[in-house]
Amino acid sequence: MALVGSGRKVVGLAPERQHGFYGRDIVSVRQFTRDDLTYIFGVSDEMRSLVRRVGATDLLKGHILANLFYEPSTRTFASFAAAMQRLGGSVIPIHGVQYSSVSKGESLPDTIRTLACYADVIVLRHPDVGASEIAARYSAKPIISAGDGVGEHPTQGLLDLYTIYSELGTIDSLRVAMVGDLKHGRTVHSLARLLRMYQTELTFVSPEILRLPSELKCELEEAGRTVIETDSVESIIGTADIIYVTRVQRERFEDMREYEAVKDCYEITTELMARAKHRMALMHPLPRVGEIHYDVDDDPRAAYFRQMENGMYIRMALLAAVLGKA
Ligand code: NCD
Repeated sequence: MALVGSGRKVVGLAPERQHGFYGRDIVSVRQFTRDDLTYIFGVSDEMRSLVRRVGATDLLKGHILANLFYEPSTRTFASFAAAMQRLGGSVIPIHGVQYSSVSKGESLPDTIRTLACYADVIVLRHPDVGASEIAARYSAKPIISAGDGVGEHPTQGLLDLYTIYSELGTIDSLRVAMVGDLKHGRTVHSLARLLRMYQTELTFVSPEILRLPSELKCELEEAGRTVIETDSVESIIGTADIIYVTRVQRERFEDMREYEAVKDCYEITTELMARAKHRMALMHPLPRVGEIHYDVDDDPRAAYFRQMENGMYIRMALLAAVLGKA
């Protein structure tokens, strides 16, 4: 069934049979090929130079984005809004669902159907794994996931991979270490899934109870990646090309004693960075709550602020692409 509107949405076709990004939902990084990534990174480069040269354009003039967030957000919410506005479009911001009909008990499908009447694309952050896929089923307009619980955060995965490429000029043959809450960190899940398509060596650094979900580990091994698990940052500090640090996700713990036991497990300091490779990048999806000391911010290898800026260019590229204007 093809649904019409200002954005084409082809329902029932496998993503690989759909042409390009036009009208496509973005709910998991599993849907991308390396060619898709190369294409989106190329458009993101253009968006970056456009913003630096002239700040904004009217490519998406007359288009509307609904930014629907059931969980807290600073960067994802603001960068999607900025991306849409820099492309000349406008935004319906729903950033506290307690003020919407959700607080009256409205279901996700009904909220989505409503916003699909008014907007051309819907960005959704939700606490339940799989919520974006459910939303996509009910939406006549493209759904872009902005994170579904402990599942995935596909646009963050894309901006993280784009940052790796921008910082080091390659993705293949890198040693990537991911540090922190690998169990609940949806950004880790999306980035690791993207990295499985490249010749990378992956080391996962976490306390025992925050290890990577076993099904994800299997996916990586089946794709031929070398997967190493350790609880020691010391073991990777001198060899990693990318160190991707994450916050321990307090809101995902049922037992607060478990959280207290692991919350301060790692801190990247200037002393540790002194032992890291000269050419490497230190990344973090942010927000940080103690995992990277503020003194590290002046280190040229600290890439996390460039990483969050890249988020806007990636989201500009994705919005233009799903609305058929890239
Ligand atoms: C992340 C998220 O929401 O998953 N934040 C973000 O979008 N940059 C990471 C986190 O909250 O720790």
